[in-house]
Amino acid sequence: MARYLGLATALAATGALAITPELLLSTVRRGAADPSPDGSVALFSYSQYSFEEESSSAGMNLIDLKTGEISDSGLNASEVNEVVWLPGTDTGIIYINGTNEEIPGGVTLWIGDIKSPNTSTLVASLDAPYTGLKVANTSSGDLHFLVNSLAYPNGTAVNPETEVVPLHQGRLYSSIYVRHWDTWLTKNRYAVFAGTLSANNSYALAGTGMRNLNHGINFTATQPETPIQPFGDLSDYDLSPDGSLYAFVSKAPQLNKANYTASYTYVGSFASSEAPVAFNGPDSEAAKAGHQGASGQPSFSADSCKLAYVQQDEDYYESDRWILYTVDVAAEGSGVAVSNWKTLSAGFDRWVQGPIIWAEDNESIYVTAEDYARIKVFNFPITADESFSPEPLTSNTSVTSYAVLPDSSLFVTASAIWTPTEYSIITDGTKNTLFDASTVDPNLAGLGAHTFSEFFFNGSNPELDQQLHSVVIKPTDYVENKTYPLAFVIHGGPQGSNANVWSNRWNLQTWADQGFIVVAPNPTGSTGFGQFLTDSIQGQWGGWPYLDLVNAWNYIDENLADVDTEHGIAAGASYGGYMTNWVQSNDLGRKFKCLVTHDGISNTEGAWGTEELWFIRHDYNGSIWEADAAYQKWNPQNHIANWSTPQFVVHNSLDYRLPESDGLSLFNILQARGVPSRFLSFPNENHWVLKQQNSLFWHTEIFNWINHWSKGEPLDDSPIGN
Ligand SMILES: *[C@@H]1O[C@H](CO)[C@@H](O)[C@H](O)[C@H]1NC(C)=O
Ligand SMILES: *[C@@H]1O[C@H](CO)[C@@H](O)[C@H](O)[C@H]1NC(C)=O
Ligand SMILES: *[C@@H]1O[C@H](CO)[C@@H](O)[C@H](O)[C@H]1NC(C)=O
Ligand SMILES: *[C@@H]1O[C@H](CO)[C@@H](O)[C@H](O)[C@H]1NC(C)=O
Ligand SMILES: *[C@@H]1O[C@H](CO)[C@@H](O)[C@H](O)[C@H]1NC(C)=O
Ligand SMILES: *[C@@H]1O[C@H](CO)[C@@H](O)[C@H](O)[C@H]1NC(C)=O
Ligand SMILES: *[C@@H]1O[C@H](CO)[C@@H](O)[C@H](O)[C@H]1NC(C)=O
Ligand SMILES: *[C@@H]1O[C@H](CO)[C@@H](O)[C@H](O)[C@H]1NC(C)=O
Ligand SMILES: *[C@@H]1O[C@H](CO)[C@@H](O)[C@H](O)[C@H]1NC(C)=O
Ligand SMILES: *[C@@H]1O[C@H](CO)[C@@H](O)[C@H](O)[C@H]1NC(C)=O
Ligand SMILES: *[C@@H]1O[C@H](CO)[C@@H](O)[C@H](O)[C@H]1NC(C)=O
Ligand SMILES: *[C@@H]1O[C@H](CO)[C@@H](O)[C@H](O)[C@H]1NC(C)=O
Repeated sequence: MARYLGLATALAATGALAITPELLLSTVRRGAADPSPDGSVALFSYSQYSFEEESSSAGMNLIDLKTGEISDSGLNASEVNEVVWLPGTDTGIIYINGTNEEIPGGVTLWIGDIKSPNTSTLVASLDAPYTGLKVANTSSGDLHFLVNSLAYPNGTAVNPETEVVPLHQGRLYSSIYVRHWDTWLTKNRYAVFAGTLSANNSYALAGTGMRNLNHGINFTATQPETPIQPFGDLSDYDLSPDGSLYAFVSKAPQLNKANYTASYTYVGSFASSEAPVAFNGPDSEAAKAGHQGASGQPSFSADSCKLAYVQQDEDYYESDRWILYTVDVAAEGSGVAVSNWKTLSAGFDRWVQGPIIWAEDNESIYVTAEDYARIKVFNFPITADESFSPEPLTSNTSVTSYAVLPDSSLFVTASAIWTPTEYSIITDGTKNTLFDASTVDPNLAGLGAHTFSEFFFNGSNPELDQQLHSVVIKPTDYVENKTYPLAFVIHGGPQGSNANVWSNRWNLQTWADQGFIVVAPNPTGSTGFGQFLTDSIQGQWGGWPYLDLVNAWNYIDENLADVDTEHGIAAGASYGGYMTNWVQSNDLGRKFKCLVTHDGISNTEGAWGTEELWFIRHDYNGSIWEADAAYQKWNPQNHIANWSTPQFVVHNSLDYRLPESDGLSLFNILQARGVPSRFLSFPNENHWVLKQQNSLFWHTEIFNWINHWSKGEPLDDSPIGN
């Protein structure tokens, strides 16, 4: 440890402007800021890791939306898990306190005002660690709320403190999808729960208690589950502003979830105990019109009369285009009448993403979408038809979250290659930056947009009628007329992108500040450039994208005079790891001094060790036993004879989508063939390295490797030897 810290101190002492792994990992991490109903302040949480203390600290701050001044909110982040503004008030709050004195393992709800947070009142004691609070203020004055929790098959929320653990540790399954991401499946599933806080001078949890809304939905293949694991969150469900209706997404109950991505949007009446009904299920008008894929982001209009949501067409293609829809909703008897189903973004060749936010006049809908390597905000009038193509309302950064202020300005939380957090207000197209972490945090001193640029190059697929995009990041202390070795970074997905966004894991500025020029192209399969480019990856894993990368390398060699391609390195994670292995298998591999593969496939035949069968069935054009599927064609392990470039292999034990046998066999083969190589594995990390100490080790060892092979710096003696 001392060794790594010494390096940070030395850099600070010389005043060098560069972001090191230590600085990256110990920078303040700020969350999205959420404005109060009156638009006076916005609340955000933050955390910061200290390598000296070997622990993180956390807090909750307010930013004044007039002055940008930041102050402590007075809420104790060790006790307060989540805060929601109380609808109908100026600055009222309701929050989840992570402790419960009556029920160990439970949580409590408290109501107060951000102006005097320490005078809050306890209003409800909940018997499990619920999260994801959403609240509506009803005309009766009662508050309706939704939260979610893991639940037993009988519908009761799981409280880990009182959970009965079986005496054996066997896991027995009779259908596929036995584990996912980093978790083995049990009989329990997440569910949305509804509760009412009765207004009676103060508030109290109504006698109906907490009601599991997923319980009671019939299924033949897949149990209902909301949020959809592992990445689902409170955007998977919504409560109408008048508190009368709720909506959530859950996977198609009649389809095996290893094979399909389809999910439906369920709506129900809050007052009714009747099970909710999916309006875009298999027999719906939408399904019959071919819209059968995953749905998401249900969001009620301000007048509670409409619901917006997004959906994909294909029922097993996770990277199909997300399209925006609306329906009219109204309570009818004990159920919900749904009518007037309508497509708003049919003519917009981008993925519509959340947050979905209705304008206060109920006449238009804000969304986000990735567009040319940035995530931008767009607005759709509810009258939009397929001829409508919106203009972006934000430009050069990537939006993390946003809100609409009372005066209809947008309050935006964004990031970029040069900043982890920027809070700004956009009024009539004019941006007023309230806060930019890079201008404040000492760890980020010297970062700026001057290191970022982009270029376009020709793709390889003759049917593609656009050029391909690439991001370039220079070192913070870049000196003109000097050359820097190439760091060629290949993104994951393959349906993903190298974008103008901050990352705590693959922070391209941190790579550049090792003394490289990072070139991060967006080849075939990339998102944000139109669906044709994304879709063209199917059956082509080692095809068009590989040839695109060859074109990108040639472009760099011919056009970027400050890039030293002779001493270049290539690196990638996930699909980027697969592609790095494919580069090793092909001629492009000989152009690099070394390679780095993080959790990538090395043997396509082994891909059925994953549980996301929908993914490989789609991307390889069929199952492994189908002769014309693309597994053999693009298998790196069919080209072992070519493997000769030194390679660093990372593969983590908790990565269940890409089992670590892929990394082990890659390393074993490299070693057996005498190719210089190292193997790094974290037993307590999944597809991502999230823990700061692990991440520091990851960065230190990878950077040691690339600095050695590219620049001749000494290799360290860290590895566990013979
Ligand atoms: C915050 O809460 C924690 C846990 O209850 C407690 O130990 C700590 O003293 C509190 N801090 C302040 C400033 O009140
Ligand atoms: C709920 O809304 C009503 C107006 O509809 C308002 O009088 C009341 O104060 C609100 N309650 C809360 C807790 O905000
Ligand atoms: C959280 O709840 C505990 C009791 O479980 C209480 O002592 C503490 O003051 C509460 N903190 C806040 C911020 O509500
Ligand atoms: C509540 O907080 C305010 C301002 O932070 C402080 O002046 C006051 O003494 C606190 N009250 C209690 C009961 O802790
Ligand atoms: C549901 O099942 C759990 C676990 O077996 C049990 O502890 C709980 O009491 C059950 N709830 C009801 C309402 O039966
Ligand atoms: C309102 O609160 C009072 C005092 O706690 C209680 O006696 C009364 O039953 C409550 N009324 C309702 C409708 O809950
Ligand atoms: C679920 O199936 C049972 C038995 O077929 C039926 O009685 C019930 O109405 C169904 N519930 C829903 C919500 O469809
Ligand atoms: C899996 O999904 C594919 C594509 O929708 C379908 O052709 C196939 O029949 C499905 N297999 C099973 C076992 O459901
Ligand atoms: C939109 O809905 C809100 C909330 O019900 C209502 O106050 C407002 O009048 C509606 N606006 C229009 C233009 O209908
Ligand atoms: C984005 O910012 C960079 C760096 O300031 C600048 O060179 C570029 O022109 C900007 N691009 C757009 C689309 O505004
Ligand atoms: C890129 O494509 C354009 C249009 O087809 C062509 O004119 C140009 O020569 C190509 N550039 C290179 C470097 O191949
Ligand atoms: C870089 O090289 C160009 C062309 O030789 C020269 O005009 C320029 O002054 C040089 N810049 C620096 C900072 O040395």
